[in-house]
Amino acid sequence: MFELTDKVALVTGAGSGIGKAVALTFAKQGAQVQVLDLNQEQALQTVSEIEHAGGKATAHVCDVTNHQQVIQVFESIGTINILVNSAGISHIGRVDTTSEQDFDRVYQVNVKGVYNCLFAAIPVMRANGGGAILNMGSIAAVIGLPDRFAYSMSKGAVQAMTMSVAKDYIHDNIRCNSISPARVHTPFVDGFLAKNYPGQEQEMFDKLSKTQPIGRMAKPDEISKLILYLCSDEASFITGNDYPIDGGFIKLNN
Ligand SMILES: NC(=O)c1ccc[n+]([C@@H]2O[C@H](COP(=O)([O-])OP(=O)(O)OC[C@H]3O[C@@H](n4cnc5c(N)ncnc54)[C@H](O)[C@@H]3O)[C@@H](O)[C@H]2O)c1
Repeated sequence: MFELTDKVALVTGAGSGIGKAVALTFAKQGAQVQVLDLNQEQALQTVSEIEHAGGKATAHVCDVTNHQQVIQVFESIGTINILVNSAGISHIGRVDTTSEQDFDRVYQVNVKGVYNCLFAAIPVMRANGGGAILNMGSIAAVIGLPDRFAYSMSKGAVQAMTMSVAKDYIHDNIRCNSISPARVHTPFVDGFLAKNYPGQEQEMFDKLSKTQPIGRMAKPDEISKLILYLCSDEASFITGNDYPIDGGFIKLNN
């Protein structure tokens, strides 16, 4: 089950956190993993860990906000059977405390970056006879979280793009789904705690952990297992949907 032998899987943001866990999990299942990240050192580190474990991977340094760069990288790979859009950035703020510059930056990475990768992947997948796409959403798309105005906007757009792509290419044998994690303990979380709550990192970490009824944050590896399922041939009847993976956050927080 969940074999990815001979499949080429491109994972954006694979230098860290959830994307990295997906890259490692996919490689273990036999995929040739295309590790795409802005950060060269981290991308090479992921490739080195995959190769050390006996898997196959190639690093691509690429900024997902750059339309031409994304197209060039995807074309250079040629065949892509699976695309996981995990590259993303966080932002804390209400609408009146979100600067235009910050709003644009979150849009560029979390929305346009996903569009750029979808734009580049679809022709390649159609030419190959199909594929599976997984976009990284968030509970922020469906819950009114405090202080997440721009981030919530971006994840709502990810869910909408997911359904649109799933509909438009269903007869090209391309499946497209998204997942909505609650908090996952990655450098993404550590980074925003350090930036937004300096000196109160541990206190905020504990507070955020308890917002999941299960009492903790997810581990990146737990997220990668759901992504593996949704991108595998075993999920061949699943498209156009979003899957919460949230320790009870959406349904049990009352
Ligand atoms: N960690 C969480 O609690 C959580 C919860 C729900 C959803 N998510 C989503 O999951 C995804 C991954 O989050 P994570 O926690 O693994 O983050 P992370 O910060 O650990 O990793 C994100 C990676 O994306 C890369 N990246 C950022 N901007 C890029 C760009 N312009 N071009 C190419 N690469 C870029 C970074 O270099 C980094 O390696 C994000 O889309 C995030 O919104 C995270």
